[in-house]
Amino acid sequence: MKKTILSGSTVTGNLTLGNYIGAINNWTKLQNDYDCLYFLADLHALTVYQDPKILRERCYSFFAQYLALGLDPQKNIIFVQSQVHQHTELSWILSSLTPMGYLNRMTQFKEKAEKHSKNINTALYTYPVLMAADILLYQADLVPVGEDQRQHLELTRDIVGFFENRYGEGILKMPEAYVGKMGARIMSLQDPEKKMSKSDENEKNFVSIIDDAKQIEKKIKGATTDSGTDIKFDPENKAGLSNLMTIYSVLSGKTTEQIEIDYEGKMYGHLKVDLADLVVQTLKPVREKYDDLMKNKDYLDQLMKSGAERAEARAMPTLEKVYKAVGLLR
Ligand code: TRP
Repeated sequence: MKKTILSGSTVTGNLTLGNYIGAINNWTKLQNDYDCLYFLADLHALTVYQDPKILRERCYSFFAQYLALGLDPQKNIIFVQSQVHQHTELSWILSSLTPMGYLNRMTQFKEKAEKHSKNINTALYTYPVLMAADILLYQADLVPVGEDQRQHLELTRDIVGFFENRYGEGILKMPEAYVGKMGARIMSLQDPEKKMSKSDENEKNFVSIIDDAKQIEKKIKGATTDSGTDIKFDPENKAGLSNLMTIYSVLSGKTTEQIEIDYEGKMYGHLKVDLADLVVQTLKPVREKYDDLMKNKDYLDQLMKSGAERAEARAMPTLEKVYKAVGLLR
């Protein structure tokens, strides 16, 4: 029996070069070793106001981006959260077990409430409960989460505890964080101390996998580097340059030592020009596949439908057991 990994992504922004590198390093291996579910968290996106037209388009776009990156819809279950109604149903039950005191502690809520002070809605507050439902519905063993989501995973584990106290064990699985093999960590282009993030407000900080050649060149050439001249891999003192070298290394297969040798006596500008070119060439097929998929929404609809059906078949038994355990008539 393979373990189940569940990974969710809020549909905001676009996937980045960092996601591309994570994907090529991990996905093929993961899909062979684990039972993998990937979903687009469109309901989570609603905790911040979304223009309906843009949200709709973005869901297609995200789905197509995942496929363009090579995620196989046969070997994995890929679906859209709102198309599997069990998420919100389980979420309601779990919210009856979640003390407000626990939600009050969530740092992401505090941050977002501050940022969107005109729209502090209840969903923004109960967001972590929906996330717990996402995870628990599928009896997920492992959840890959970034630092910003760790607290939510901890809460999910607390909720399992509350549930077991009241209703007994063996119904919900206690999930754990998935800590993958440390792949290359790709940092922000303007601020190399922080991770490259798709939800960064400054577009100059990341290359999106569907940026065109011009945008890519502009962003790479504009990346922050230090005032030195030596092309040396030194993440501590030359964070920006080293980040560019890491990207170069992953995409070209060359070691950073080799890159140092190749660029001896050359300037940062040379490396940037070559790297921009390499990124453009690497992402070209991704972008082409993406454009093709986006021209064929019917096909995307079909894949979403079959993904949702497969997800639902996995989710329903959990929801049934939970409903029964808490005393709802079936
Ligand atoms: N909250 C996550 C994020 O913003 C997305 C997400 C929603 C998620 N539900 C999930 C991630 C369940 C993992 C498991 O990145």
